[in-house]
Amino acid sequence: MTTYDPRTMPGGLDAELARLEAQAAVMWPAERRLLESWGAGRAQVIADLGCGSGALLARLGDLNAGARLIGVDHDAALLSVAGDRCACPGLAGRVELVQSELASLPLADGSVDLAVLRFVVQHLPDPVPVLAGVRRLLRPGGRVVVIDVDAELWGIAEPVDPVLAALHRRVWDVPGNGPAGPPERADRLVGRRLVRTLRAAGFAEPTTQVYSYDSDEFGVDAFGPLLDPVQLMPHVDAGTLSPAELADAVRRFRAWLARPDAYALLVGFAATGIAPDPESLPR
Ligand SMILES: C[S@@+](CC[C@H](N)C(=O)[O-])C[C@H]1O[C@@H](n2cnc3c(N)ncnc32)[C@H](O)[C@@H]1O
Repeated sequence: MTTYDPRTMPGGLDAELARLEAQAAVMWPAERRLLESWGAGRAQVIADLGCGSGALLARLGDLNAGARLIGVDHDAALLSVAGDRCACPGLAGRVELVQSELASLPLADGSVDLAVLRFVVQHLPDPVPVLAGVRRLLRPGGRVVVIDVDAELWGIAEPVDPVLAALHRRVWDVPGNGPAGPPERADRLVGRRLVRTLRAAGFAEPTTQVYSYDSDEFGVDAFGPLLDPVQLMPHVDAGTLSPAELADAVRRFRAWLARPDAYALLVGFAATGIAPDPESLPR
């Protein structure tokens, strides 16, 4: 079960593939530091669960040139893009791609050292049983890393456009942007719940790191695909925004992006926990 279909995203599959890549590129330096601090460089088997087009998978292969990598996703088209990407020297021969629902992972218990779910948990209507399955997949002492967002703490864009700022606040503060929302809506407030979700799934020592990445490193244009209000199109379909409001937001955003002093700092949530020895869990 998922709320994510790249074909229904504004701009269709190609635009979504470009957005996933742009997102991975600007976030990677900060994510790499976190993953290294959590032992990704020493892991022998790394699973990227909900790997999509392989934007993170390829980078994990670069971070740890000796690891065996497993990418799992239920979307055949995205896995095919990941397959092309992982056919390059350095990755070929050590990446296994598996088409599967995350709720029924066809991987052996205790076979993985590090499991990463990046921008996946927000799309799972019931994440606790899925993460409990991820825990079983990990060897005792293995680690899960969940990377996701919380729309209330999304970041800063300067100079502030008050109309865009008010509009963003309005679209996340509507019924459906949280766990009580309709099942077809992603939980864009998931960041604040990650620690409790990992604990409920049986992970030990759950913690969250809130990290940031900013446009001075890559140039503000690199943030365009991440911030473009065109992504709010589903809110027009849902009646939360009018078409005229969206058109005005897009015009304002383009004007903001063209400013020489435009600056964005975005916030990510990375939660982690350790898989305990199954013998130590209550039966
Ligand atoms: C927003 S994309 C993120 C892709 C990738 N992790 C990244 O960071 O670029 C979410 C991915 O999770 C996959 N996904 C969502 N729900 C899933 C499920 N229940 N089982 C398997 N894959 C799922 C989607 O197909 C998609 O590839």
